[in-house]
Amino acid sequence: MKMTLFSVLSLSLLVFVSLPSPSLSEPEICNSEDKKVLLKIKAALNNPYLLASWNPETNCCDWYLVKCDEITSRIISLNIFGGNISGRIPPAVGDLPYLQTLIFRKLTNLTGSIPSAISKLKHLKWIRLSWTNLSGPVPSFFTELKNLTYLDLSFNDLTGSIPPELAQLTNLAAIHLDRNKLTGTIPESFGKFTGSVPDLYLSHNQLTGPVPKSLGNLDFTRLDLSRNQLSGDLSFIFGSNKTMQVVDFSRNMFEFDLSNVVFPASLIWLDLNHNKVFGSLPAGLTAVDLQFFNVSYNRLCGPIPTGGKLRSFDLTSYFHNRCLCGAPLPAC
Ligand SMILES: *[C@@H]1O[C@H](CO)[C@@H](O)[C@H](O)[C@H]1NC(C)=O
Ligand SMILES: *[C@@H]1O[C@H](CO)[C@@H](O)[C@H](O)[C@H]1NC(C)=O
Ligand SMILES: *[C@@H]1O[C@H](CO)[C@@H](O)[C@H](O)[C@H]1NC(C)=O
Ligand SMILES: *[C@@H]1O[C@H](CO)[C@@H](O)[C@H](O)[C@H]1NC(C)=O
Ligand SMILES: *[C@@H]1O[C@H](CO)[C@@H](O)[C@H](O)[C@H]1NC(C)=O
Ligand SMILES: *[C@@H]1O[C@H](CO)[C@@H](O)[C@H](O)[C@H]1NC(C)=O
Repeated sequence: MKMTLFSVLSLSLLVFVSLPSPSLSEPEICNSEDKKVLLKIKAALNNPYLLASWNPETNCCDWYLVKCDEITSRIISLNIFGGNISGRIPPAVGDLPYLQTLIFRKLTNLTGSIPSAISKLKHLKWIRLSWTNLSGPVPSFFTELKNLTYLDLSFNDLTGSIPPELAQLTNLAAIHLDRNKLTGTIPESFGKFTGSVPDLYLSHNQLTGPVPKSLGNLDFTRLDLSRNQLSGDLSFIFGSNKTMQVVDFSRNMFEFDLSNVVFPASLIWLDLNHNKVFGSLPAGLTAVDLQFFNVSYNRLCGPIPTGGKLRSFDLTSYFHNRCLCGAPLPAC
């Protein structure tokens, strides 16, 4: 009996000594419901090697790719990336009720559509389903996740149109829907975000039609509409009292007169290449501290204004226009 007690004591001393110091103050014990759900997710993904550390005998707060809240020990982050994972997103992810971050990334064999179970995750702030083969629509149920600050569904095979309801989210810092196969127009509601105005990345899709005038009412910091089939006027997006910084409208069919456009002083990146922009380069551009500028492959005419940075850009920033002239292009 004495020996046994001694062994127990020395064993616990050994465990005590070998534990990393932060664990002394907070012995994290995984929530048993969360653990059950994680094991269900692991099974649904066919027990991939990536999740080998998800051993039912151990504290799930120590498992690879998950994170527990320091106080409640509930699972708050699931970040699955870069493994050999095939199949669909297990609907069981919706049963981790305290999840704030959900990431499935760089999983080319991840297929199927985005499960509606995700709409149960009311604490979700950050969702990233990116570089996968997910297909189907962009679900409108994201609007039920009122605290969402970051929505990234880029580099997938999503189809259908952009749900106008997304504009009801008031805390979004960024929406990435780029590199999918989305069709239809940009919703009119995207000019009516209340609360924060998100950075908008819609490039490399099959979006058509004119950009709704409503977007001109908002002050986007970053706006990437490149590589779609968007058409018509877009001059209304600029303006002297905006604070936009990065704008990429390249490789569309935008058709408007650039001559009288007033660019905000905050602009550092302007790409308009491969459109049908006409008129001349406004002299006001010389007052903008641009770091990147490309108006090539348009229908511009007249002299490149002198002063500012305009003449420091490469000739390829200007070539293939109707009759632009002056350095770095040939003299007028
Ligand atoms: C994807 O699935 C194919 C076919 O089963 C397999 O050959 C390939 O290794 C998998 N790739 C990854 C990264 O999982
Ligand atoms: C991925 O897993 C599949 C089936 O388990 C296997 O055939 C394939 O070789 C694996 N691919 C890689 C890149 O590990
Ligand atoms: C995933 O997408 C890539 C590129 O689009 C494609 O080549 C591949 O066949 C797809 N894999 C599956 C399993 O659908
Ligand atoms: C949403 O965020 C606010 C502010 O951070 C927080 O007080 C609230 O509890 C959050 N709601 C949910 C459902 O997580
Ligand atoms: C500046 O912005 C405000 C609100 O965004 C707008 O009402 C006002 O007309 C703008 N002024 C100019 C000169 O564009
Ligand atoms: C401008 O865009 C054209 C067309 O894509 C490209 O060929 C050229 O290299 C670009 N130049 C710069 C400086 O980005």
